[in-house]
Amino acid sequence: MKGVILAAGKGTRLFPVTYHIPKPLLPLANRLTLEYAFDRLREIDVRDICIVVGENEPQLKSALGDGARFGLRLSYVRQTHPQGLAHAVGFAKEFVGDEPFVLYLGDAIYSKGFQDHARRFLESGCANLNLVQWVEDPRRYGVANLDGERIVKLVEKPKHPESNWAMAGLYFFGPQIWDVLPDLQPSARGEYEITDTIQLLIDRGHTVLAGIYDGVWYDSGTLDSFLEVSRFLINNGRIIDPTARVKAEVGDAVVIGAGATVECTFIEDSVILPGARIKIEGEIQHCLLGGTVFSEDPLKDAILYEG
Ligand code: DAU
Repeated sequence: MKGVILAAGKGTRLFPVTYHIPKPLLPLANRLTLEYAFDRLREIDVRDICIVVGENEPQLKSALGDGARFGLRLSYVRQTHPQGLAHAVGFAKEFVGDEPFVLYLGDAIYSKGFQDHARRFLESGCANLNLVQWVEDPRRYGVANLDGERIVKLVEKPKHPESNWAMAGLYFFGPQIWDVLPDLQPSARGEYEITDTIQLLIDRGHTVLAGIYDGVWYDSGTLDSFLEVSRFLINNGRIIDPTARVKAEVGDAVVIGAGATVECTFIEDSVILPGARIKIEGEIQHCLLGGTVFSEDPLKDAILYEG
């Protein structure tokens, strides 16, 4: 089975940090965000991976290369404009060929592997199997109606969800997807949706299965979720790189990257990127900071990259 990782988004919800560092390369617990995807894919023996990139292509290629240092073979295709997940996956058609593949959204982090789901997908011979998870409020996700083990209906970000089964951002596909993609129409928000693609598979009589994911799953795309996943990965503790210089009282959930200097009274629930130079009169709370920050004000809820 091959792998396709979608990493062409602009990371707008983490601007301005993501002007400088593409979201898939942001360090989480001092590892690149995409390294967590690589771990999960290696576990299911997926080693040939195509990364769909956008304007971030040069940075991603130079940071990840051919993948040898991760025990993978990486290749890259460029999505011309970010016009939706189904549009993005279309660029990987030549790479995938007739093989089954797993589609991974580049900003997702999963606490446990997909071995059982991969095995079930391959053994069933179905056209598509998708991870789903029961969530309290599914309105910001694709939402699935289930009938037994099958998905029978899908709606992207519904205002009035018909179920609590959220699409958890991990999809296994057979080659049937390539027949339906050309017939896809843009959604109301102007994107080619992966949910509509799967609905087309259902409408044309293909078997589409749900795989209930019972691990913890995060999407690291906003400040809150980025810091939440960071806190989870470091178990509410601290990772301070030995080359960082810190003059501060350090509270819970703090990551300080290599070569960073941090001067303040107190820091908690924050990520300081490698090489950052920070000098603050007060406290740093719930922040993602890089570059150079000199300030007399305490910092709270900041996503800052200056200098
Ligand atoms: O997180 C799970 C959800 O992911 C699902 O429940 C939804 O059904 C699915 O549509 C998707 O929704 P999001 O709104 O979270 O997708 P987002 O726009 O954040 O894009 C997810 C990843 O795909 C992100 O890493 C960037 C990449 N991407 C996105 C777009 C729109 C691309 O590579 N190209 C694109 O055109």
